[in-house]
Amino acid sequence: SGPELAALVAGASVDVPDFPKPGVVFKDLMPLFADGEVFRRVIDGIVTHHGSDSFDVVAGVEARGFVLAAAIAYATGKGLVPIRKAGKLPRKALSASYALEYGEATLEVHEDAFIAGQRVLVADDVLATGGTAAAAMELVERAGGTVSGFSVLLELGFLDGRAKLAPRSVHALLTV
Ligand code: PRP
Repeated sequence: SGPELAALVAGASVDVPDFPKPGVVFKDLMPLFADGEVFRRVIDGIVTHHGSDSFDVVAGVEARGFVLAAAIAYATGKGLVPIRKAGKLPRKALSASYALEYGEATLEVHEDAFIAGQRVLVADDVLATGGTAAAAMELVERAGGTVSGFSVLLELGFLDGRAKLAPRSVHALLTV
């Protein structure tokens, strides 16, 4: 259930002060991946929420989004498209830069990553300011896909990242 899944995310989230920069509290969700039972329940919960008919392919945002996207893709029999940090993709790519809570970054996707009109579920571990997710959305749509929704484990609601993603649906297992 929703409250059970929220409790699993809360229980697996470790606050790391001053990482990667002084003053930033990093939300480390890797303990969730390390616990096989929790990881499976979380992925099953995400798949149940979105349903495998609402999207055609999963896009994962480097790096922890890859872990989630791969599991969602496998569980639903869909493909996976990686959205990578700048300079990692071997072929011609589209780029989008965005502001992070700490600094700036650029994401890229292969320009031929999507079939026109393909519905794309975008997965990441944390939605904070929404800059990352908004850049991922821009890339998916410039590459010809259409974002059917966003899936995150943890949303920092006070940063209102989902405002940048409206009117697309955003599903978080836990909002704090
Ligand atoms: C974290 C997190 C999201 C992003 C959320 O990634 O995994 O991708 O920040 O922040 P935002 O909503 O404010 O944009 P990070 O930049 O730490 O990259 P990593 O996963 O490669 O470590």
